[in-house]
Amino acid sequence: MQQEFTPMILIHLGAALAALVLGIAVFLRRKGNLAHRVLGRAWVGLMLVTAITTYWIRGGGNFSWIHGLSVISLVALCFAVYFAMTGNILRHQRIMKGVFFGGLVVAGAFTLLPARLLGHALRSSLGVI
Ligand code: HEM
Repeated sequence: MQQEFTPMILIHLGAALAALVLGIAVFLRRKGNLAHRVLGRAWVGLMLVTAITTYWIRGGGNFSWIHGLSVISLVALCFAVYFAMTGNILRHQRIMKGVFFGGLVVAGAFTLLPARLLGHALRSSLGVI
């Protein structure tokens, strides 16, 4: 397990939490207008930071299966942007939902496990362990 919150972990965590909040806003707002395009680009930027920073976060010294999620997310984001730019909105929508729920929400939920740094920190601050 990762022992402490390194600067790279803090950048990863900040980008992921910002992407979570912004992602919810993008899902709830109207699609296709200028605001959607601006907020959507910002969300993709945050997701890129979230995924790319994991290259420098290796709790056990090696890459783990969660790093596979980073690679999948990066590829999926490229496809989602490509489909938006070429007008294939159905595929754009499906991939963005997949990255948000299957990538961000699932990866976020896993960080709350007791063996992970955030889960451990939360439990200690609540006095559970
Ligand atoms: C709200 C969402 C997220 C939160 C709160 C979060 C938080 C964290 C934290 C605190 C760490 C470092 C400590 C640890 O591993 O326990 C970490 C590591 C990591 N995260 Fe995230 N993250 C989120 C989303 C994501 C996403 C979307 C991806 C992939 C696209 C991702 C991939 C990784 C990877 C690969 C590691 C390194 C794991 C290892 O050391 O083997 N995370 N995350």
